Amino acid sequence: MDYNKKTVTDIDVKGKKVLCRCDFNVPQDKQTGAITDDKRIRAALPTLQYLLSQGAAVIACSHLGKPKGQVKPALTLAPVAERLQQLLGQDVIFASDSVGPDAQAKAAALQPGQVLLLENLRFEPGEEKNDPAFAKALADLAGADGVYVSDAFGTVHRAHASTAGVAAYLPAVSGYLIQKELEIIGGALAAPKRPLVAILGGSKVSSKIGVINNLLEIADTIIIGGGMAYTFSAAQGGKVGDSLLESDWMDYANEMVKKAEEKGVKLLLPVDTMVADAFAPDSNAKVVSAGEIPDGWQGLDIGPKTIELYTEAVANAGTVIWNGPMGVFEFPAFAVGTKAVAEALSKTDAITIVGGGDSAAAVEQLGYADKMTHISTGGGASLEFMEGKALPGVVCLLDR
Ligand code: 3PG
Repeated sequence: MDYNKKTVTDIDVKGKKVLCRCDFNVPQDKQTGAITDDKRIRAALPTLQYLLSQGAAVIACSHLGKPKGQVKPALTLAPVAERLQQLLGQDVIFASDSVGPDAQAKAAALQPGQVLLLENLRFEPGEEKNDPAFAKALADLAGADGVYVSDAFGTVHRAHASTAGVAAYLPAVSGYLIQKELEIIGGALAAPKRPLVAILGGSKVSSKIGVINNLLEIADTIIIGGGMAYTFSAAQGGKVGDSLLESDWMDYANEMVKKAEEKGVKLLLPVDTMVADAFAPDSNAKVVSAGEIPDGWQGLDIGPKTIELYTEAVANAGTVIWNGPMGVFEFPAFAVGTKAVAEALSKTDAITIVGGGDSAAAVEQLGYADKMTHISTGGGASLEFMEGKALPGVVCLLDR
């Protein structure tokens, strides 16, 4: 999918009210509610600061968690307003609703250079239903000459009122974050510096079908790791012991192996596996050949020979796209494969792109974040982008 959408720099926002959809869906401490990672708030700053510098009045909005159309006080965006205020170094006015009387009054009074943050959009049932009335009510906050800026890359795969519906009522452009994600990920998919190596991990083949299928059309090499490798192994007649297995997806795995052969894509599967006698951080572990996992044992990471093979494939790449960890990286004993891949990426001269979600968390947790060309702020969004699916939150923006 090649997008050429208008951005904040293509539209005049001076003196206007700008409804800016951000992805402030940040992780919070379950007990205290404290924000444990403010990366997504920081990622929104360039766009917000640009809008303010241009003399716009900014009405920021976002969802947080999955309150399913009900007011859940634990999912209030109030802590985000506070953090945003610290990061912007200016007051952030907070509305206790999203389109109700408080939001309406505060939006009406908002002056150029000021920021208003609305309460969690998903407290309203109309948000996820993409209800036109709710989308219109949001747009109305920006007034007759208002503008809509979408900068919530993490949510562009959702066709919700604030991510797609609202674009029917206001001129709609992207912010810097979406622009950057589209340029880097889109560029790697449309015209990659070759060879393009895709590393796909994570637990399930079923959640990666689309991405494997699409990348088989584009990549030169596909590397498979993580739990889904056992379904490939079993499909090829290997013994996988008690490892994660999606038997319904074995035929599909074989189809992908065949498609890779037909397309001349190198498909690398693990040659050895780190197995454990229990799914626990302190389980007994040993290395066995792939496809020879004894009963009572389960694969939790790729083995040393596989690490060597995968490191070599990455070393000569022009572009590497990585989505999904190689093993159970939350357990230090089984983080070795994921760490080795992160290290290989940190050493290559290739353009390195890490999909959001688990792979981004792994890269950050293992300390390699600043060595990557780009870490996406979108989990599901980056995956759907890599699957070649249309992203409703981008499709709705004005074309250049
Ligand atoms: C994310 O965290 O991936 C985005 O904010 C989207 O959240 P959602 O999966 O609840 O729609």
